[in-house]
Amino acid sequence: MAVKTIAVLTSGGDAPGMNAAIRAVVRTAIARGLKVKGIERGYSGLLNEEIIDMQPYSVSDIIQRGGTILGTARCPEFVNPEIQKQGAEICHKHGIDGLVVIGGDGSYRGAQALARQGINAVGIPGTIDLDIACTEYTIGFDTAINTAMEAIDKVRETSTSHERCSIIEVMGRHAGYIALWCGVANGAEDILLPERYDYDEQAIINNIIEKRKMGKKHHIIINAEGIGHSNSMAKRIEAATGMETRATILGHMQRGGSPTCKDRYYASIMGAYAVDLLIAGKTKRVVGYQHGEFVDFDIEEALAMKKDIPEYPYEIAKLLSK
Ligand code: ADP
Ligand code: F6P
Repeated sequence: MAVKTIAVLTSGGDAPGMNAAIRAVVRTAIARGLKVKGIERGYSGLLNEEIIDMQPYSVSDIIQRGGTILGTARCPEFVNPEIQKQGAEICHKHGIDGLVVIGGDGSYRGAQALARQGINAVGIPGTIDLDIACTEYTIGFDTAINTAMEAIDKVRETSTSHERCSIIEVMGRHAGYIALWCGVANGAEDILLPERYDYDEQAIINNIIEKRKMGKKHHIIINAEGIGHSNSMAKRIEAATGMETRATILGHMQRGGSPTCKDRYYASIMGAYAVDLLIAGKTKRVVGYQHGEFVDFDIEEALAMKKDIPEYPYEIAKLLSK
């Protein structure tokens, strides 16, 4: 049966560019003759029936704004099949026969559960972490790395002036992509990734001592949130090297801010693509970007895919900081 009314929600951590995706979903759907609703606060809002009608003007003036106008939430109870059933019943009650979910892997599992209950659902990759295996691009990553890169440049200047070591902690609890990209782009001397770090602090200490002898005036360590403990690490490194060491935790500033052109562009196309999938009768799909093309996969297939930090850039980063 052809979809008539679709809804859109954002779930999990917010990401710059989510608004551009919402705008694209709403305007594409209306242009194609569908009705659109917005579900506020992710799956929590669905369960609480926080559902609003969306018009083309509901998404005016948001393409340049970070965050998500719909709000987002973590809704742990949505893993419960009984609760998922309630979610699907609420969709039926509101006449929602198609759903676009903007979020990460966790959010896709919620979409998959609703699809099993008869709601046509499509996921769009929205996370600053870039940790979704089926796609080379996720909404928000580009903005987050540029925000972090600019902040790290600033720390580097004061670090050099004071001849200090700086540990700069970037987001990524399970994924080191932000750390890797900033590590390369900011010329870091060490990059600590959840996927690679072997907790050999002595190796870092040796590296600092060696680089100091070579005349380096600073030592930048990009530490991913998944490794964490930047403050205590700073104290130990200072004690062992004699080099003054400071920790800076960039935190949620990396998740905010006006999306870059790249994030607005990809989010806009992916939003439209998701609606067109629903119109084509496809369900239980996720949108991705691979080898220069927008593509889609079955959610199950997408969730089974694995992604790892590429070895070559990681090795090259070490070489370039010599
Ligand atoms: P992300 O979507 O960024 O990976 P989370 O892992 O926090 O973020 O997931 C976002 C939300 O998706 C969760 O709060 C929950 O509502 C829903 N979710 C996560 N895992 C599942 C699951 N296994 N089944 C159903 N819903 C899930
Ligand atoms: O998934 C995005 C992300 O920013 C991760 O990098 C981070 O680990 C997590 O969300 C933090 O989430 P919050 O502080 O919102 O709980």
